[in-house]
Amino acid sequence: MDQRIDLLMKKREESKVAGGAKGVQAQHERGKLTARERIDLLFDPGTFQEMDAFVTHRCTDFGLDERKVLGDSVVTGYGKIDGRTAYVFAQDFTVFGGSLSKVAAEKICKVMDLAAKNGGPVIGLLDSGGARIQEGVDSLQGYGDIFSRNILYSGVVPQISVILGPCAGGAVYSPALTDFIFMVKGMGQMYITGPNVVKAVTGEDVSLEQLGGAMTNASRSGNCHFMADNEAECFRMIRELLGYLPSNNMEDPPQTACSDPADRRNDALATIVPDDPKKSYDMKQVIAAVVDEGRFFEVQKLFARNLITGFARLNGRAVGIVAQQPQFMAGVIDVDASDKGARFVRTCDCFNVPVVTFADVPGYMPGTDQEYRGIIRHGAKFLYAYAEATVPKVCTVTRKAYGGAFIVMGSKALRGDINYAWPSAEIAVMGAEGAVDIVFRDAIKNSPDPQEARQKLIAEYREKFANPYVAASKGYIDDVIDPRETRSRLIVALDMLRNKVDSLPRKKHGNIPL
Ligand code: HXC
Repeated sequence: MDQRIDLLMKKREESKVAGGAKGVQAQHERGKLTARERIDLLFDPGTFQEMDAFVTHRCTDFGLDERKVLGDSVVTGYGKIDGRTAYVFAQDFTVFGGSLSKVAAEKICKVMDLAAKNGGPVIGLLDSGGARIQEGVDSLQGYGDIFSRNILYSGVVPQISVILGPCAGGAVYSPALTDFIFMVKGMGQMYITGPNVVKAVTGEDVSLEQLGGAMTNASRSGNCHFMADNEAECFRMIRELLGYLPSNNMEDPPQTACSDPADRRNDALATIVPDDPKKSYDMKQVIAAVVDEGRFFEVQKLFARNLITGFARLNGRAVGIVAQQPQFMAGVIDVDASDKGARFVRTCDCFNVPVVTFADVPGYMPGTDQEYRGIIRHGAKFLYAYAEATVPKVCTVTRKAYGGAFIVMGSKALRGDINYAWPSAEIAVMGAEGAVDIVFRDAIKNSPDPQEARQKLIAEYREKFANPYVAASKGYIDDVIDPRETRSRLIVALDMLRNKVDSLPRKKHGNIPL
């Protein structure tokens, strides 16, 4: 028996240095950690249980039968993150450049199936040269098997992709199908075709980093939800994100102890909205003033900055926050903001995270650029997501809420549960100036002093309509609240909604405009 145990230990050791000391050294020289070092940073110490460490590839072409590595190009298993079970697959670049063999795909699928059956998040650490070239279509089939699991388990367990090296071509579609993508600056790359193909097809000269680096995907394409400066920071952020999410769609997110008083007032909120409606303010200050300990974990921070999305806690309970940012494009809703908002609301809804909205929105973005890019179609997604969501939805209008943009931001009409407005709210079809120019065009033109007449009419309109009381008088707003009490009013509303039960009409699935 002793000899057999010795053999087991020997094989274990062999699998741990899969790509050999040279491969590990090359990985370190690239400034990257190995798959196992990454796993150590992700999981609670000593909790990781590896699976399939003895699996080897089955390819016999190109002399590959002479080059078998225990475990092949991916490390898979499960462990604890902050005491909760999570599942991982980590591509090992030291073995055939982390390329996906058929058995690597089988290992990944196995751990995904286990996660879905047992209800725990799956975290994919991606660092790969793509399809195992020597295996051809077997490898492509492997990708397909992973994609279909990404889709089937979407909305069942949280799926997180972490791009820590190359991720190119069709391989990008697995991360794209997951809930969140993390990238490390200067390390992760995601693109459909590399710079050489781009040059050949379109004539463009572009660097890898410009084409598919972390900054590009975080700020321009919006593919990346979280960008980290280094791997250690990235793993810390993943652990933080998981703290806001349940392990699966049948559970609520974990509740934490809260030392921030639920009835804490914040006097700064009484003066944060400037008297001049054209002046901006920082909505992140509003969020920080309201949530537990001012802690806000922002999602897609650099993309569509006119809309803020992210997680926070209110009295220890996880919430998803959606808010306009008046500091960027006056908080107008455009194509990118619609996509960002719709996706975030749906993510919260999948995973039982209540949605807390702060609205200050002048409307949808006008212009040919937005019309041609499909603001109608994209804006519809945002409406759809809010109306479809059955999680508790609490909205506060802080200032402007004009036209369709008032309706989209979690209004009563879209099945909002509790709708507050601050006294500074202006809930109307449009801003005073625009309304007066349309309704009183002739009267202004024919008056002896058109300028004076216009200003007078604007002041009258503002007095009559640019306030929260018209909407409140009709029940479209449940209450006009003192801004200083926003925190306690949100906490009380969410507590009341704790046992909310809501459903949608029976159907196979809705047809969200895509
Ligand atoms: C087999 C691969 C491989 C691959 C890399 N390797 N990619 N082996 N299949 N796809 C091997 C290399 O031969 C090398 O082996 C080792 O991994 C490390 O690679 P290097 O090239 O030395 O590393 P580096 O210089 O850092 O370059 C990394 C790289 C490059 C940019 C990823 O290797 C590369 O361009 N690889 C090919 C990428 C590609 O075209 N993949 C197919 C895409 S199509 P040795 O033995 O020398 O150490 C695709 C379709 C997916 O993925 C479709 C899904 C539906």
